Amino acid sequence: MKALIDKLRRDRVLSREKFRALLENRDEDAASYLFARAREVREGVYGKDVYMRGLIEFTNYCKNDCYYCGIRRSNDGAERYRLTEAQILDCCDKGYALGFRTFVLQGGEDPYYTDARMCAIVRAVKEKHPDCAVTLSIGEKSYETYKAFREAGADRYLLRHETANDGHYKRLHPPELSLSNRKRCLYDLKALGYQVGCGFMVGSPYQMIGDIIDDLLFCRELDPEMVGIGPFIPHHDTPFRGEAAGTMELTLFLLGVLRLMLPGVLLPATTALGTIHPLGREKGLLAGANVVMPNLSPTGVRKKYLLYDNKICTGDEAAECVQCLKRRIDSTGYTLVTARGDYKKDPEKLTAKKHLTRKKEVNAHV
Ligand code: 5AD
Ligand code: FES
Repeated sequence: MKALIDKLRRDRVLSREKFRALLENRDEDAASYLFARAREVREGVYGKDVYMRGLIEFTNYCKNDCYYCGIRRSNDGAERYRLTEAQILDCCDKGYALGFRTFVLQGGEDPYYTDARMCAIVRAVKEKHPDCAVTLSIGEKSYETYKAFREAGADRYLLRHETANDGHYKRLHPPELSLSNRKRCLYDLKALGYQVGCGFMVGSPYQMIGDIIDDLLFCRELDPEMVGIGPFIPHHDTPFRGEAAGTMELTLFLLGVLRLMLPGVLLPATTALGTIHPLGREKGLLAGANVVMPNLSPTGVRKKYLLYDNKICTGDEAAECVQCLKRRIDSTGYTLVTARGDYKKDPEKLTAKKHLTRKKEVNAHV
């Protein structure tokens, strides 16, 4: 196992067979060896810094009906809300005072926020806080729309691919959604110069090791600046209410693997990871993660943005979360910083040959 992990660190990728061997035979010893290597790589690029992103969940209306998600359109139990531009700006101002220099505007796919409205919001945030990065996380749009958001000032975009296996994708989503459009979006975002985040749920229903290998290979092909992964957690008002949650153990292992594959990647220790285990986020940081994303949404709406059950921090003020996270991060030996935290190119440059192969892989896709 150590040889496989060393090889992964050296080559940044394994064959399908070797990935399978690594994932199927993983045990505690392999995990602690992997995490130690992942920390070395992470510290080589980012030192001990942990970046924070202020998450503003500004609408829980969604036109989509993903089977796993608590704010899917068919969930009549969800109490819907939208934040006004003024409320969003207020969240940013409060966040700014707490040290946030990245705001993530996340929401369901809500047609109320037309391109014009969205662009106005992005422009307003950038105008008030020109030293901050604006990240959007509002789903699948056309190239033209992504271009308009970019021109309005958006710097980054999060769009988890959810699963890179077509058959698996169909089991998690209704027929009108497709993996190919999801990938098209991600390549459009890259072409427009966004820092792009993809990602997937760990332990989602029907997920097999082969699907996870597809996810890893897709991450290599896309070469994203961010990757968001967290355990699947069932929501009581969705078709997947009776399914088992993903495990912390596999999530941590995959964080370590992703850090070795993409040394400079921005990797959050997610809220879902903190939800399945009280020390999930701390363990995530010790497995290779280097970002935390506390909630800046007004406390009045927090409980309504429920993608899955038992979500943590829904009763806490942003300031409390920052204090709590600071303590938690201190306990790991890392340090919460207020920098914008842009992507850093990995210092060990790709060799010309590897770069060429990657380019070919990407071109085969677009
Ligand atoms: N469990 C865990 N993560 C979920 N997400 C949506 N529903 C769930 C769930 N039940 C994740 C998806 C989405 C992100 C915003 O939240 O991966 O992209
Ligand atoms: Fe929100 Fe601990 S991070 S209360």
